[in-house]
Amino acid sequence: MRRAKISIIGAGNVGATTAHWCAAAELGDVVLLDIPATEGMPAGKALDLFQAAPIMGFDARLTGTTDWAETAGSDVVVVTAGIARKPGMSRDDLLSTNAKIVGDVAARIRDTSPQAVVIVVSNPLDAMVQRTFQVTGFPPQRVIGQAGILDTARFRAFLAMELGVSVEDISAMLLGGHGDTMVPIPSCTSVGGIPVTQLIPADRLEEIVTRTRNGGAEIVALLKTGSAYYAPAAATTQMVEAIVRDKKRLVPCAAYCDKEYGVGGYFVGVPVILGSAGIEKIIELDLLAGERAALDKSIAAVKELVSVMNRLSA
Ligand code: NAI
Ligand code: 2OP
Repeated sequence: MRRAKISIIGAGNVGATTAHWCAAAELGDVVLLDIPATEGMPAGKALDLFQAAPIMGFDARLTGTTDWAETAGSDVVVVTAGIARKPGMSRDDLLSTNAKIVGDVAARIRDTSPQAVVIVVSNPLDAMVQRTFQVTGFPPQRVIGQAGILDTARFRAFLAMELGVSVEDISAMLLGGHGDTMVPIPSCTSVGGIPVTQLIPADRLEEIVTRTRNGGAEIVALLKTGSAYYAPAAATTQMVEAIVRDKKRLVPCAAYCDKEYGVGGYFVGVPVILGSAGIEKIIELDLLAGERAALDKSIAAVKELVSVMNRLSA
């Protein structure tokens, strides 16, 4: 059987860690592409990772390159190229630099891997995924943003810490943009099947939601030299797995919503079914009034971000 071809654009922290987990899980052959100051960097990382294969026992071909031709015909392309957030810098500060980088990358993907499913990770996520969609011209099912799996994982981790239970027993859902306006849905959050609202008082739950919203900034403040990458790479790997193994996972992702949730043609975090075709279905939830109002606020923030990006790039 032919192995899937997974290209990861940007061999920095998130890209290299995603390559590591994709290879270790034998999801396919991995091409790591960068345009680094040090020409050999992606080749060095790929070779180092391949030399771990005999010890860890995985079969995957690993290629590190600066040449887009090596990515040709990929089944999945992960976009992590760009600059990462530094302390004091918001995701939105990244907007103009990363819009240019991601626009260039998207044009290369369109030309080299026209059938690929593209997972965008670069920030500001909700704008970068829109830019990728604009430039590739791919059907919306094949352009997906990674945010919700990471944000729900943070929420689940904090709930597990609070309750002293296994992370495996916590199931959660978040909607909206990747940022300060993300919308946790307590009615879709449970611990071993028990609604979280029966286990944690409302005011404490609100504090945990706030910590989740600030989850990325908390790591930036601790690391001081960059932003989170283990959990973002794990989230991205779960998306790659859902696609290459056609798992039909029901997970939150940034998906192109037109009529869905009344969004009108933007990428917003919503529950989707993820399989070999990319986004195979968007699930529309019946939201409580407060949840709907919070989602509307988040959608408005995404639209504003995209309009600033479009203005800056005009
Ligand atoms: P990093 O700085 O470690 O790596 C970025 C890499 O992109 C660098 O190696 C750089 O040389 C490369 N690059 C820049 N322009 C390129 C181009 N035109 N073609 C190919 N490669 C190029 O940054 P890190 O930590 O890996 O983060 C990457 C991006 O992902 C950032 O924008 C960050 O904000 C974002 N991010 C998004 C998350 C999410 O949940 N959506 C979570 C974590 C990070
Ligand atoms: C995060 O949430 C920086 O978006 C990145 O960690």
